[in-house]
Amino acid sequence: MTDQELLAAADAAAARAYAPYSNFHVGCAVLTRDGRVVEGVNVENAAYPLGVCAERTAFSRAVSEGFRPGDFVVAAITASPCGGCRQWLHEMGVERVVFRNGGRVVTMTPNELLPESFDSSKLA
Ligand code: THU
Repeated sequence: MTDQELLAAADAAAARAYAPYSNFHVGCAVLTRDGRVVEGVNVENAAYPLGVCAERTAFSRAVSEGFRPGDFVVAAITASPCGGCRQWLHEMGVERVVFRNGGRVVTMTPNELLPESFDSSKLA
């Protein structure tokens, strides 16, 4: 599966977003090392802050199915990941992130997206 194909999967997933408040539909498709594709969408709530981003639903689903940080190769997202999701991308240990940003397709590492990040080593 190419990064382009994974982004196409994210695009298709975005159509299933539940975003009646923002009307901003986001899809995320994550490729695992064993070749699975796990998709997520943003899920909003009338109590606005309780909404969940597409990236977090994708990774929460993957972890619920037994995947763990380090099992992921690429995350493709239909939008530029928010700050909180950049922290999640770090934690999940993806090698690279491919996302749409203003008509461009950008590829970056989690470290480029969130340098000097907080991680478990700082908890010691
Ligand atoms: N959103 C995501 O799903 N992922 C991001 O990284 C950026 C923002 C969602 C949250 C909300 O449902 C909508 O986009 C508008 O902010």
